[in-house]
Amino acid sequence: MAKKVAIITGAGQGIGAAIAKRLADENYDVAVADIDPKTAKAVTDEINAKHPDQARAYVLDVADRDQVFDLVDQAVKDFGHLDVFVNNAGIAYIDSIVDSDPETVSRLFDINIKGTFWGIQAAATQFKKQGDGGKIINASSLAGVQGSALQGAYSASKFAIRGLGQSAAKELAPDNITVNAYDPGIVLTPLRDYVDGRTAEIKGTTPEKQRQSVVDEIALGRAATSEDVADVVSFFVSDNANYVTGQSILVDGGMSYH
Ligand SMILES: NC(=O)c1ccc[n+]([C@@H]2O[C@H](COP(=O)([O-])OP(=O)(O)OC[C@H]3O[C@@H](n4cnc5c(N)ncnc54)[C@H](O)[C@@H]3O)[C@@H](O)[C@H]2O)c1
Repeated sequence: MAKKVAIITGAGQGIGAAIAKRLADENYDVAVADIDPKTAKAVTDEINAKHPDQARAYVLDVADRDQVFDLVDQAVKDFGHLDVFVNNAGIAYIDSIVDSDPETVSRLFDINIKGTFWGIQAAATQFKKQGDGGKIINASSLAGVQGSALQGAYSASKFAIRGLGQSAAKELAPDNITVNAYDPGIVLTPLRDYVDGRTAEIKGTTPEKQRQSVVDEIALGRAATSEDVADVVSFFVSDNANYVTGQSILVDGGMSYH
């Protein structure tokens, strides 16, 4: 059987890197796509050291629609097919709504919402051309299920991703394309370091105390690793999830229930 092919955006570090490594372990060819060429190359080299020639690095800004379409075209040229597209790239922004900087808010919406929109559009266009279905996975968040102080722009973008995913799931189901999302809670990545650091700064506490206060809310008693999230993506891309679409799964160790 031909190898399956997955594109993962924001795969240079954190959750995206863990997803790329996991899918490579599951015998996928993986396109490691990131805005940072250095980290994309490092993850690609690490995967290829374990699984020769299974990974390639791609550099793009997901906010730019043309670059997202070029990514899909190039990965299909390189690997011959596309089976999975993971819209993982995203940025956080911590500030009060009153003090939020308009340019940063626009950039966040461009990356988190429009980047995901272009990813769905580009992947679905390719899947329809191939005619044999496909799987799209989006990165939402616990912040996309319930709002939090100081996370207005970020939370709005992550709610949008779930709404977009539900619409896409209905629209693309006739082509056997499924669309699902993961909603992580507290995952120990560079993004989380920024969130805890900036929140602490605004609240006048330390990053360590801030982190402990959120970890104290986790029923399972520990923050998530990026691999905990990759486990859920592994399910979404598998045949075990063929009848699951338009859903999002909280990966938060039991912080929130719905
Ligand atoms: N870490 C958490 O606690 C957490 C919780 C909920 C949701 N998430 C979501 O999971 C996803 C991954 O988060 P993470 O914690 O691994 O973040 P991270 O900041 O550690 O990694 C994100 C990666 O995306 C890349 N990226 C950023 N902007 C990009 C752009 N415009 N184009 C292409 N690549 C870009 C970065 O270079 C980086 O490699 C994000 O969408 C984030 O919002 C994370």
